[in-house]
Amino acid sequence: MHELKDKVVQITGAGRGIGRAIALAMAREGAKVAMAARTEREINTVAEEINLAGGTAIAIRTDLMSESDIKKMVYETEQAFGPIDILINNAGVLKLAPVTEISTSMWDELISVNLRAVFLACREVLPGMMERKSGRIINIGSMAGRRGYVEQGAYCAAKHGLIGLSKVMALETQRYGIRIHVLAPGGVLTGLSEELRASRGNENEDAWMTPEEVAQAALYLCTQNGAAMTDELVLRRYESEPWR
Ligand SMILES: NC(=O)c1ccc[n+]([C@@H]2O[C@H](COP(=O)([O-])OP(=O)(O)OC[C@H]3O[C@@H](n4cnc5c(N)ncnc54)[C@H](OP(=O)(O)O)[C@@H]3O)[C@@H](O)[C@H]2O)c1
Repeated sequence: MHELKDKVVQITGAGRGIGRAIALAMAREGAKVAMAARTEREINTVAEEINLAGGTAIAIRTDLMSESDIKKMVYETEQAFGPIDILINNAGVLKLAPVTEISTSMWDELISVNLRAVFLACREVLPGMMERKSGRIINIGSMAGRRGYVEQGAYCAAKHGLIGLSKVMALETQRYGIRIHVLAPGGVLTGLSEELRASRGNENEDAWMTPEEVAQAALYLCTQNGAAMTDELVLRRYESEPWR
């Protein structure tokens, strides 16, 4: 899969979970990976793992709730590696509460990290991609962008919004040869889904997807060129109801 050799990939939320798995998978394919998250220890550890294995990675401490941090993230990535070829908006946060009990600060955080940060990062990288007439963005969506789930009001609102934003960006950038994908998994075994799994009585963990399975799908999207195009790739747990 040498299409990814030396490609510059910016991945948010790459310190753990799905983002970490995507970073490792991209680096194995020879991409230059710039990872962003708040917890420096985690992104530094992933960067070290990649660099020790002969890959190329940097870690950039970023709070995606901050517009200036997002601008700095893109600037530092491009200073280190050159123009971003692939942006993977992966970082996310999930907190559970019925709508009547969602605090304003919880609402603001979930909308800010899951949706506003995606808009800000895309607005930062798209002009360069449009000028170069190439580029790819993968927005990590969710089943919660397609359906409603109790106690996930803010999360569902953000993930539905992500679909709307992705549709518009795809329309606006198609003539520049840019590809905008949404990768929408169901339940994945990560820290983000811990509270949810506990609320469902910690059902069989083997039935939950691994971050590596999602990373495999991201690799597929990143190497899809030519006449074929996947707008949204939905990954459901095998045990969940087909076609929902
Ligand atoms: N796990 C699932 O079941 C599942 C299902 C469908 C979709 N998804 C989506 O998949 C994506 C990754 O989730 P995951 O399950 O891998 O979650 P995770 O293991 O909790 O990792 C989330 C990542 O996002 C980062 N992040 C959170 N808030 C941030 C902020 N303010 N600024 C910068 N980075 C921030 C975290 O780093 P710091 O805390 O260090 O900042 C961490 O690296 C999310 O978009 C999520 O909605 C997950």
